[in-house]
Amino acid sequence: MENEVMTMPRIGEKAPEFKAVTTQGNIEFPKDYEGSWVILFSHPADFTPVCTSEFMTFATLEEKFNKANCKLVGLSVDGLYSHIAWLRTIKEKIEYKGMKNVEVKFPLIEDITMEVAKKYGMIQPGESNTKAVRAVFVIDPKGIIRTIIYYPLSLGRNFDELYRVIIALQTADEFSIATPADWRPGDEVIVPTAGSCGVAKDRMESKDMKCYDWFFCTKNISKEEIENKIIKK
Ligand code: BEZ
Repeated sequence: MENEVMTMPRIGEKAPEFKAVTTQGNIEFPKDYEGSWVILFSHPADFTPVCTSEFMTFATLEEKFNKANCKLVGLSVDGLYSHIAWLRTIKEKIEYKGMKNVEVKFPLIEDITMEVAKKYGMIQPGESNTKAVRAVFVIDPKGIIRTIIYYPLSLGRNFDELYRVIIALQTADEFSIATPADWRPGDEVIVPTAGSCGVAKDRMESKDMKCYDWFFCTKNISKEEIENKIIKK
């Protein structure tokens, strides 16, 4: 592993292609997901507590992500039968934070050869040679990687943040804006900078925009407008 070259996909690049066996049948990635946003995420191991809390949370939120045209795909370097047994245990035995009888309906990839994990830079030897870190790849409907987040083994992810990322990226695409720190739908959005002082001066005088300086202008887009564009009823 020490001398092995490991690839790290980057934002703005095509998501690396692979074929895989999952708990929901075979998939061809990202081809099968064309036209949808997709979150491809890895976890270190089945039958571990942090991962169990994550899967229960993500499965409970799946419909909300689906309504934002976003599908979920999990991965670990465990085998298919381990995945099936773990997901069955979650459904039949685990009650956690008010969640019970939780069925994980999204595909969980088996990756015992680590082929996919290595392609996606999910094996990070400083953390573990034998387990994937908690990686999150947000891929758009054209198969382009739009956000990458990595967490270490000990840190469970914040799924509200992942939902915020999905909505913020789609809002940026739909309205040609950017989103400021801690943005939530309904907060002001950033109008891209004009690149020239002359244009900026005009913009500073525009009614629907608020400028903090020539390089920092915002406008309002209501939560309803965003939801009408993005969320399936
Ligand atoms: C967990 O999910 O609990 C876990 C997995 C691998 C290492 C540490 C924690």
